[in-house]
Amino acid sequence: MNKFKILIACLVLGSFGCAKEESENAITTQESESATTSSTLALDEGVTLKNLPFKFGAAVNVNHMKSRPEYRDLIIKEYSSLTAENAMKIGALHPAQDTYNFTDADYLVNFAIANGKRVHGHTLIWDSSLPAWIKNFQGDYPAWKKMFELHITTVVKHFKGRVASWDVINEAFDDSGNIQNTIWRQHLGPNYIDMAFIFAHRADPAAKLFINDYGHENGNSRREGIIAYVKALRAKKVPIDGIGMQFHTRYNRGTSSWTKAINETAATGLLVHISELDIAVNPEGVKGYVPTAERITQQAEAYKTIFKLYNAIPKAQQWGITTWNLTDNDSHLKSRPDYPLPFDANYQRKPAYQGILDGVK
Ligand code: G3I
Repeated sequence: MNKFKILIACLVLGSFGCAKEESENAITTQESESATTSSTLALDEGVTLKNLPFKFGAAVNVNHMKSRPEYRDLIIKEYSSLTAENAMKIGALHPAQDTYNFTDADYLVNFAIANGKRVHGHTLIWDSSLPAWIKNFQGDYPAWKKMFELHITTVVKHFKGRVASWDVINEAFDDSGNIQNTIWRQHLGPNYIDMAFIFAHRADPAAKLFINDYGHENGNSRREGIIAYVKALRAKKVPIDGIGMQFHTRYNRGTSSWTKAINETAATGLLVHISELDIAVNPEGVKGYVPTAERITQQAEAYKTIFKLYNAIPKAQQWGITTWNLTDNDSHLKSRPDYPLPFDANYQRKPAYQGILDGVK
């Protein structure tokens, strides 16, 4: 059995009890026999994903940053861009109409700046994670517009010059590519999207502004609806700079789906950010699921394919790839159970890590 396969098996079973030294033997012999070859670069501690040809980011949890040294160390070592998993959402930043709370968000931004990381803001306007005062807001159109503009302006100005880009709008579209009837649309009409970009740009003209959504790789109508809407915004000179594709995808979604999503979105000429990547190995949600070595290899192939496709789009449009969370242990899919990320629960590199390196080779 090829030594690297032993390593895969050990990495898979690492947190399920495969003898550590066995993998160490596999690693050392591997290294002593032939210097680290490109297909085992992941074994080389000197290698890091923050040196990829484009920004490599993660959505981070501020509590974990404060309480888990290994979590913080992994961020410093492997990532060149950070997104707040929750600390910059409306509910967190604006818990009451006259109250803003920037504590956790500022902690993240200051940490990022101190460690040379870019910050991508997530998210100014979304119809989820809303504080009660907005859900119960009583007012006419001018009152809603004033509240809407004040939130965007206050937040963007607070982070001006420290946050490089924003998901101005998150998850506004439905599966048929139409604008959902969110609380913002109900009170401000479909133009709430145009207004959000105009207010954000006015507050920080240097920040790159994105429309972010999921499912670009899952079906044509959603993707085509988003692209058509973005082209219409551009035609109206609305200051939009990029499209964020979340890519909460699965190991077997398939190359053609990922290819269409990445190439058709890049064909708009706008910046492209794969903003919330994770690749599920248990998309069906089988209870008690433990990934097989074969499934983990398929996941590595999927990471390789997506990074390869992304690396082929024009450099000037590459805003980067951000994974949603860092390790399988802090993934929002952990309880499914799932193991969707390049690092396992022990902060160890999985074959997916090698897949990423092979993808940009
Ligand atoms: O902070 C409160 C805490 O005070 C309270 O005790 C606790 C119990 O209710 O809730 C905590 O808030 C939770 C928050 O995460 C912070 O942990 C919210 O209930 C929970 O809904 C929220 O879940 C986040 C979810 O977005 C909704 O905002 C997930 O962590 C986050 O991974 C997920 O991320 C989304 C992206 O923003 C958009 N795309 C999909 C992605 C995954 O769902």
